[in-house]
Amino acid sequence: LFTRRTGLVLAALMTLGTAAQAQAPIVIKFSHVVANDTPKGKGAIRFKELAEQRTNGRVKVEVYPNSQLYKDKEEMEALQLGSVQMLAPSLAKFGPLGAKEFEVFDLPFLFKDTAAFRAVTDGPLGADLFKKLEPKGIKGLAYWDNGFHIMSANKPLHHVADFKGMKMRIQSSKVLDAQMRALGAIPQVMAFSELYQALQTGVVDGTEGVPSNFLTQKISEVQKHMTLSNHGHLAYAVIVNKKFWDGLPADIRTQLEGAIKDATTYANAIAATENATALDKIKASGKVTVYTPTPDEINEWKKALMPVHKEMESRVGKATIDAAYKAAG
Ligand code: LMR
Repeated sequence: LFTRRTGLVLAALMTLGTAAQAQAPIVIKFSHVVANDTPKGKGAIRFKELAEQRTNGRVKVEVYPNSQLYKDKEEMEALQLGSVQMLAPSLAKFGPLGAKEFEVFDLPFLFKDTAAFRAVTDGPLGADLFKKLEPKGIKGLAYWDNGFHIMSANKPLHHVADFKGMKMRIQSSKVLDAQMRALGAIPQVMAFSELYQALQTGVVDGTEGVPSNFLTQKISEVQKHMTLSNHGHLAYAVIVNKKFWDGLPADIRTQLEGAIKDATTYANAIAATENATALDKIKASGKVTVYTPTPDEINEWKKALMPVHKEMESRVGKATIDAAYKAAG
């Protein structure tokens, strides 16, 4: 029975509901797999601070580090389903999504320095790659640098022959798979969150990675040797669920774009020093022998690894590789 009174109560409830809705912040769950105390971790926190400030609290960013919510593969699925809104996976993790062109970034010795990497992401190829994500329900917002890969194991890795038969953990990239095989190693794809235990128990013998991750995941406590080979590069794509992003009020989206832009400048600015500091700490622990290869040794690695570029043309696409060469210089 609908009385005047229930009508009033209903009307009051509806007003309350609208008011509550107007005040409830838009929540962005930002999930990632590394520690807070890393370039990516700090970039995510900077984004949170800027986003919340600039939207006057209309947006709340919840950062979930260290694979707390999802591991590598699961986080991609969660983003597509809308269970989280934002991620920053390594560029080496887009292959399983069908965006295999991203693996161009994994080609060994592709970038001579950070500027060369930035020239690729800031140029037309960086934008083209992001376009490839849109049919998958994902929008790319920015690229975050995390420096160059070094190698680790429980034995010295100086020469190519030292890799023979070594089980090496890799990210889910076919280019990294080819790279490890070219060195004579046995690659094994594994989620980042499982790496420490896999090294500790001997499921794998070694890995490639960056000092900031080696330190914060305690990889340096289960590996005795590291080689500063700088043979590969690690970087991230900050990505959002496209439907969520497109559905945001325009003013909020503009504020968030600004926050991403500034968090990107910050993350890219700290990457090199964060990794240098982490390497110093690893050295200072006295538990790891850190080796700098000679120019001759690097040439030996290059000789073994450069054929991977040609071999991966069919996977990554010749046009993509050529575009990367052109921008990287
Ligand atoms: C890895 O899996 O080794 C890296 O991609 C982890 C990361 O996000 O830095």
